[in-house]
Amino acid sequence: MFPGDEDRYGRAFFDANAATWDAPDKIERAGAVAERIAATIPLHSTTRFLEYGAGTGLVTQALRQHVGPVTLAEPSAGMRAVIESKIDAAGLTDARLWDLDLEEDEPPDERFDVIVTAMVLHHVHALDRVLAGFLALLEPGGHLCVVDLDFEGGTFHGEGFTGHPGFHRDRFGDRLRAAGFTNVEISDCYQMLRNGIPYTLFLAVAQSPAIR
Ligand SMILES: C[S@@+](CC[C@H](N)C(=O)[O-])C[C@H]1O[C@@H](n2cnc3c(N)ncnc32)[C@H](O)[C@@H]1O
Repeated sequence: MFPGDEDRYGRAFFDANAATWDAPDKIERAGAVAERIAATIPLHSTTRFLEYGAGTGLVTQALRQHVGPVTLAEPSAGMRAVIESKIDAAGLTDARLWDLDLEEDEPPDERFDVIVTAMVLHHVHALDRVLAGFLALLEPGGHLCVVDLDFEGGTFHGEGFTGHPGFHRDRFGDRLRAAGFTNVEISDCYQMLRNGIPYTLFLAVAQSPAIR
């Protein structure tokens, strides 16, 4: 469930910031994330690709040429409006848009080869439910790619944030395995500056078991 007014990084925040989201720092981050993902897992022109918590679709745009049909899932109406305008302007081809929050919604009856989620899971309270949703949405042997903050103690969002202060890599890996994922690998992904403070992001790659 999207946090309400008690979290200043809840749905209202993303609705309000959607129109100006595509700033140079976000575009650069999305490009770097896409590059790391493309260098880490196999991607093909037939790969059925889902980005969860897609924001304005920057990571999908950066990976578009590497994959087949893309689905962007995003619960903020403001963010979805930006994605819709990109689809309408043919900035995103063979793309469809879902209003989906796996904290409260059942996973649709669909299967993907790859699911990517970048800078989303630290906002997710019902993390195990969302990971179970990813597993249900993946083909056996499909890849989940999670990009998120290393544990940062809460300075990234500051006061009024009710999500995760980043993640410890080893504990996050255990959480993926406990959810049923296999072949969990976690590596360095990106470093960004916020208010003059450096923050590191990891890339966790995991697979849905080949036989379920
Ligand atoms: C920091 S932004 C990242 C957007 C995009 N992935 C990017 O890298 O530019 C976090 C995104 O997660 C979405 N989000 C927050 N809680 C969510 C949830 N429970 N399920 C799906 N998306 C969520 C927000 O609406 C927002 O678009």
